[in-house]
Amino acid sequence: MKTTRNTKTTKSSPLPAAHTDLGKPEVVWTRRHLLGLEELSGEELEHIFRTAESFQEISTRSIKKVPALRGRVVVNLFFEDSTRTRMSFTLAAQRLSADVLDFSAGKSSVTKGETLRDTVRNIEAMGVDTFIIRHSAAGAPHYITRCTDCNVINAGDGQHEHPTQGLIDIFTIRERKGRIAGLKVVIVGDIAHSRVARSNFWGLKRLGAEVTLVGPTTLVPRAFEKMGAKTSYDLDAALKDADVVNMLRIQHERISSQVFPSREEYVRLFGLTQERLRGTKPDLLIMHPGPINRGVELSSEVADGPNSSILRQVSNGLAIRMAVLFLLNQASGKN
Ligand code: CP
Repeated sequence: MKTTRNTKTTKSSPLPAAHTDLGKPEVVWTRRHLLGLEELSGEELEHIFRTAESFQEISTRSIKKVPALRGRVVVNLFFEDSTRTRMSFTLAAQRLSADVLDFSAGKSSVTKGETLRDTVRNIEAMGVDTFIIRHSAAGAPHYITRCTDCNVINAGDGQHEHPTQGLIDIFTIRERKGRIAGLKVVIVGDIAHSRVARSNFWGLKRLGAEVTLVGPTTLVPRAFEKMGAKTSYDLDAALKDADVVNMLRIQHERISSQVFPSREEYVRLFGLTQERLRGTKPDLLIMHPGPINRGVELSSEVADGPNSSILRQVSNGLAIRMAVLFLLNQASGKN
């Protein structure tokens, strides 16, 4: 990844001038795929955030559209259910003037035995540019990069990563707190099965935050300590000096055996309630990637309270996904 000063990366940038202000270092983006945050540098993360800031302004216009990806085709290739990620990618692509194709595994020829490789190659033959893939198998997006010349974006692969959700969460923290370095971020819940936890962890560590992973012993792998995280099984202790808490969904669909005694026990030990917030910093930022289980990970009072950024995360998702689509297509010479 190269860094230059005052070098425009596009012939006619649809970005507001602020993005290329004189004096600001600017990264020349070269990645064609976004597969995870583990491999991104701090410089690349910051470049995505600055690009997303520029795109935020577009959503405030009466005509919320720029021609950056006009004539390009983006394919939503979802093998798992989604509300936020799928709709947000669709809207982001539309705001960049791209055409969007929607694929749903259950209504496709996958049900007749077509392989992932054949599905991708057949769609590519229609003349598309970007695949956005969600799949239950970790590594599926990496595999697709070997089957196609298109850009590939990981929209969640098994328990591996969900990079755009990680970007959204870190961008929202950066927006609310003005920085990432030095912040104490607590991630709570089903860490073992969470691709969101992994993407958050890699990005936050890269930018200098202190990350503590909290949950039942069965759901917080100690292996994370070797990667630089703290682990804890005591939420109240971890929250005492926390700046941010990110509550993860209990993933019933990925938990194969009984890993905590009962829902009531989980809520008592790890649920975020108004009572539990006493004794925490008054400006503690409360996050959840969604979808939330109300009354489990957090109470409705907390989810809808003044410290919650849950809906702001969703709003920021649009700008982040516009930035990712824009940058990856730019690296392919497609905008
Ligand atoms: N946060 C998230 O990935 O939500 P969806 O499953 O609704 O896309």
